[in-house]
Amino acid sequence: MKTSLFNDTIEDIRRAARIIAEGGLIAFPTETVYGLGADAFNGEAVSKVYKAKGRPSDNPMIVHISSKDDLYKLAEKVTPDMEKLMDALWPGPMTMIVPAKSSIPKVTTGGLSTVGVRFPSDPVAQQLIEFSGTAIAAPSANLSGKPSPTTAQHVIKDMDGRIDGIIVSHNCQVGIESTVIDMTGDTPMILRPGKYTRANFEKVLGKEVDLDPTLNKGPEEFDRPADFKPKAPGMKYKHYSPDADMIIFEGDMDKVEKSIAERKQQLESQGKKVRVIEFGSDEEAARDLFAQLRQADDDGVDMILARGLRSEGLGFSVMNRMLKSAGFNIEKVK
Ligand code: TXA
Ligand code: MG
Repeated sequence: MKTSLFNDTIEDIRRAARIIAEGGLIAFPTETVYGLGADAFNGEAVSKVYKAKGRPSDNPMIVHISSKDDLYKLAEKVTPDMEKLMDALWPGPMTMIVPAKSSIPKVTTGGLSTVGVRFPSDPVAQQLIEFSGTAIAAPSANLSGKPSPTTAQHVIKDMDGRIDGIIVSHNCQVGIESTVIDMTGDTPMILRPGKYTRANFEKVLGKEVDLDPTLNKGPEEFDRPADFKPKAPGMKYKHYSPDADMIIFEGDMDKVEKSIAERKQQLESQGKKVRVIEFGSDEEAARDLFAQLRQADDDGVDMILARGLRSEGLGFSVMNRMLKSAGFNIEKVK
């Protein structure tokens, strides 16, 4: 298949939107990561997304809308809490899990009776959705298991020849995927942490919000493997993984620095190519983590060494991706 490259001009976005409306696949930027979009109401188009990504079909898609009102076309029921969240945090990096209307194809919801809905703030994404005249089902535009793409180059590398077109635009500012919050239970529950944190949601709702207890833990931390069951099918254990091996060092800052330096030297003396990844702030870590993992693979790195992030706020969310990238390979420095 020939993949067309589009610019982020109005004319080109209109062309790309027509392809979506006709059942094709288009990758596009959002404020979080690039998405791979299809008409959410066209089951055949959505099944092509699973194929292009090599993704298991039990993993549901997020449905992207270009106005708050569109939520009422997708959700069977909209509660006052959902309205509070969308008024405060949309457009932006929040996905709400809501009861799904039966008009949404099962292939889009991965067979669930709920649907994840997001109104992105990126103007290119908004125009694409609006011009397509539909809602756009879109997972991240990476091959399944690889780090999510935060630049058009990442998308071209993974998807060239597999989809109809790519909108080549700016790099993504947030850099990790949206916070997924399940609004279908008695207490809202964060299924995937992101830029919006538990504190943000609790402030808007004026009540307690739960975290999926499996977050930032590996299966080994549960008594029985059956206890380890992330509620978002896509949050299963191995994910976001670079080809290189990766170790996360946790503990006292000075000691961690020293351990990383020693390990680097030791591995290099064995002829290994080592990359140390470091960030100036949690925001920078979110923005650059996936790009750095991909760069390490492009450079043929054997081992990535990283310092763990603090376990609150945005640091907790980025750490969630880092732990998965490293397959929970943690070294506690004493
Ligand atoms: O920032 C984002 O959310 C990006 C951009 C493109 O918008 N999209 C994205 O999609 O990250 P994806 O498919 O890579 O991740 C969607 C996550 C998966 O973990 C999936 O299992 C979960 O959301 N999810 C989607 N619908 C769900 C549902 N109805 N119930 C529970 N989890 C759901
Ligand atoms: Mg993804």
